[in-house]
Amino acid sequence: MEIVVSGARPTGLIHLGNYLGAIRNFVDMQDSYNCYFFVADYHSLTTHPDAKELQAHTKSLLATYLACGLDPEKVAIYIQSHIPQIPELYLLFNMLAYKGELEKVPTFKDKVRAQESAKKSINAGLLTYPVLMAVDIIIHRSHKVPVGKDQMPHIEMTRNFAKRFNHMVGQAYFPEPVGFSPNSNTLLKVPSLDGTGKMSKSATNPNSAIYLTDTDKKIRKKIMRATTDEGPQRLNQPKPEVIQNLFDLMRLVSTPDAVQYFDDQYNNCTIKYGYMKKQIAEDMTAMLAPIRQRISDIERDEAYLRKVVQQGGERARASAAATLKGAKKLMGMRYFGL
Ligand code: TRP
Repeated sequence: MEIVVSGARPTGLIHLGNYLGAIRNFVDMQDSYNCYFFVADYHSLTTHPDAKELQAHTKSLLATYLACGLDPEKVAIYIQSHIPQIPELYLLFNMLAYKGELEKVPTFKDKVRAQESAKKSINAGLLTYPVLMAVDIIIHRSHKVPVGKDQMPHIEMTRNFAKRFNHMVGQAYFPEPVGFSPNSNTLLKVPSLDGTGKMSKSATNPNSAIYLTDTDKKIRKKIMRATTDEGPQRLNQPKPEVIQNLFDLMRLVSTPDAVQYFDDQYNNCTIKYGYMKKQIAEDMTAMLAPIRQRISDIERDEAYLRKVVQQGGERARASAAATLKGAKKLMGMRYFGL
């Protein structure tokens, strides 16, 4: 089976975009690939070093993975910092990465801007973030990485680092992994509720995203307040972004019939956005309520979470140790047979 790796940083609440755009794909992949899914806690230290939050967010991310249907018997679910081979290979790969290329990465430039405007310093870990991410991936010699569009530059760098290593040692030791979606969903856009762009956890407006932990009441309130316009003025008028967003959102949670119904109403100018929003809210709460309940049950079951990451960690360490050993040997870092 091909090897799949993906991770997420435990930096905050998990929203509908994370669920539909990422986690649900992980669940779809678990039967057909050899999967490694992890909590990127080292990565969160580049911008979010708070110890208490790290605890809470790591726990909720793990509980979310499990609540959404990842099966710890099928996939390795683990915490990045439980795998000591990752920082070791990261050290070695830092010698293969160039300062110039790291400074050019779009996510680095965005984060530098964000840190500067928050009057925070830019640590070296932020610059070498793509190196650590590359190592997360190649440590299992993985082939495919389900990630969103914004992460594609990192995957491209991972391929470059793998190629550079292979060239250096004169052997195709690391596969060149590709960013991947098992269906078209990975690149699917879950729109923000404030009319522009996609749902994001860093958004300044907390009402622009639906979190998996939001109560039914809160979901309803956020949907009812989503930005719209004054309504169509002409028959079959093209939809502006805010309205397209509302339809996109509906398509994600409601039946095709419901979408068609409101689309027809839009086209003949009889639509009342309030009714459409009510329908979206109803379908969304029906989809999310069972997940929310499972997240809260699992979060309370520390013994179970412990078992999951212990078991996943063992599998990940075994795979990582084999990769690291081979890589070091190829680099000439095996001395006196030791
Ligand atoms: N950088 C990713 C993000 O912000 C998280 C991540 C870290 C990751 N390591 C990874 C994703 C390895 C896929 C594979 O979402």
